[in-house]
Amino acid sequence: SAAEKGGYDYFMLKEIAEQPKAVADTLLGRIDEAGSLTLDEVRIPASVLREVDKVVIVACGTAYHAGMIAKYAIEHWTRIPCETELASEFRYRDPIMDPRTLVIAISQSGETMDTLMALRHAREQGAKVLAICNTNGSTIPRESDAVLYTHAGPEVAVASTKAFLTQLVACYLVALYLGQVRGTKWGDEIQSVIRELSEIGTQVEQVLETMEPVRELARTLADKNTVLFLGRHVGYPVALEGALKLKELAYMHAEGFAAGELKHGPIALIEEDLPVVVVVPSPRGRSVLHDKIVSNIQEIRARGARTIVIAERGDTTVAPYADHLIEIPATPTLLQPLVATVPLQVFACELATARGNEVDQPRNLAKSVTVE
Ligand code: AGP
Repeated sequence: SAAEKGGYDYFMLKEIAEQPKAVADTLLGRIDEAGSLTLDEVRIPASVLREVDKVVIVACGTAYHAGMIAKYAIEHWTRIPCETELASEFRYRDPIMDPRTLVIAISQSGETMDTLMALRHAREQGAKVLAICNTNGSTIPRESDAVLYTHAGPEVAVASTKAFLTQLVACYLVALYLGQVRGTKWGDEIQSVIRELSEIGTQVEQVLETMEPVRELARTLADKNTVLFLGRHVGYPVALEGALKLKELAYMHAEGFAAGELKHGPIALIEEDLPVVVVVPSPRGRSVLHDKIVSNIQEIRARGARTIVIAERGDTTVAPYADHLIEIPATPTLLQPLVATVPLQVFACELATARGNEVDQPRNLAKSVTVE
């Protein structure tokens, strides 16, 4: 009903708007006054976490994209090797695990069959399983050794939005907590990232306030057949997520690529007026990454692509190559997906509406996939 949608036309719009609160709620009570993480609810003792020598993340769809981003954070802040794998592929390849392996299963619903089967397989091999889940008491947390709940509140729209942002927050919390418990050379960075993480809800709010041009742009692209998405580093999973949203909602051919892979094939797809969304990392700090993607943008633009560039506010070097510039607030590199994903959600939702599609219930899809 209209009341349930809180005045919005679709649950998806309501859930996109709820993201600042969802992010804040997921942080609530998990950072103490001294700026340290308190994850006592993760009942895996610190002594066990200190012995972990490998992290394996399993998930499907959007949750898998959160897991891909988590890999960058976990390896950087903890120096523990981490792999992220599609839950549906994981147990069929005889993966190597033992009691020092920490498996993280990410699932909004907690009922996804592929993810459940993957975690059962992991526990059979003696691995410890931590669930990151949005649904209290669902099967995946019940069958795990521990759970860190995301506090997104119920997500009704089939396309995941606020659950994704809170999965990212939970992944960062786990990565930072592992770093804190084990003590790494990134101690100072961990402290400052924890501080910046607590600001992120406000930044998501800022992004939401500037979305009208994104909606206008989406409407002008309603008759296109294809949209490509490019990113590097954590921007690569964001590109995949942008493409997935567009597939499920707009029923358009959408592909995400690692920008460095362009010349290994995908650049052949570029033709006059093809819309290409590019996620640009912050020009600060890891500027090599930034400069590389700016040259990727020049390469595709020279071949006629219509560039839709998501970049940090004040990034003047990229602006001349952007046919459409979508500005996002400055964040630490690893946290950028929390703000960079939001315009892509809005973009997909508006394109779906412009194409006359059912936003909350896309064809052929179920909210939770409880069969393999
Ligand atoms: C995302 O928009 C999807 N509808 C889908 O990919 C979803 O993320 C996936 O099915 C996993 O669901 P889960 O988080 O409930 O396990």
